[in-house]
Amino acid sequence: MTPGVRPLIAGNWKMHGTLREAAALAEGVRAGAAGLAADLLVCPPFVHVQVVAAAMLGQGVAVGAQDCHPAPKGAHTGDVSAPMLRDLGATHVILGHSERRADHAEADATVRAKAAAAAAAGLVPVVCVGETEAQRLAGEAEAVVTAQLAGSLPDGFAGIVAYEPVWAIGTGRTPTEADIAQIHATIRGVLAARFGAAGQAMRVLYGGSMKPGNAAAILALPNVDGGLVGGASLVAADFLAIARAVPAA
Ligand code: PGA
Repeated sequence: MTPGVRPLIAGNWKMHGTLREAAALAEGVRAGAAGLAADLLVCPPFVHVQVVAAAMLGQGVAVGAQDCHPAPKGAHTGDVSAPMLRDLGATHVILGHSERRADHAEADATVRAKAAAAAAAGLVPVVCVGETEAQRLAGEAEAVVTAQLAGSLPDGFAGIVAYEPVWAIGTGRTPTEADIAQIHATIRGVLAARFGAAGQAMRVLYGGSMKPGNAAAILALPNVDGGLVGGASLVAADFLAIARAVPAA
């Protein structure tokens, strides 16, 4: 945790769920959202954003998307722009997730352009960084993450950063608490150096196999201001259990 920063537990639903399943999951999260020590965010697939945003309206659960195009509109078949997401009721957008970086060859410059576009549309960008297993084994984790931050965050960035080691995503493996604390301290230093007081207070989430069983220990670490949760966010009870693991401020 960072003193004075309210944690955020964000669910990344990835490419899961029919509309009916998304609505049911949203209802399960909504029903348990009151009285938590953290803010909640759920990020359904594009096609479910409108229904989930409508369900969460006034319920204290923010809704985001998982990507957006850098342009506000144009001839980009199959893409979705930040203003479109805002129009549907989204307030946040995950950008530069390692699955987008891998599946769609998204480079830091693309992520940076998307983050600027999101902010211009009034969305809070949640920018993901994280090393591969080979990079960690080579002792390059901090250098990789530092370079990704430099390349992926636009000037004036006022969003959220998520540290997600690629090798921990969906694998059931996590770094040690000491390793998480070390990278988060590095990220905090980078953010503070570049953005000053805003960087000191910027939320830095941990993501990668966060579960009810390991959440309390991870969320108690310095500079860990919440979690970006994949698999466990698809079960409302698990997602809420992670949110309840946030230590009271
Ligand atoms: P996981 O995914 O919790 O299933 O590891 C996290 C993420 O990719 O955001």
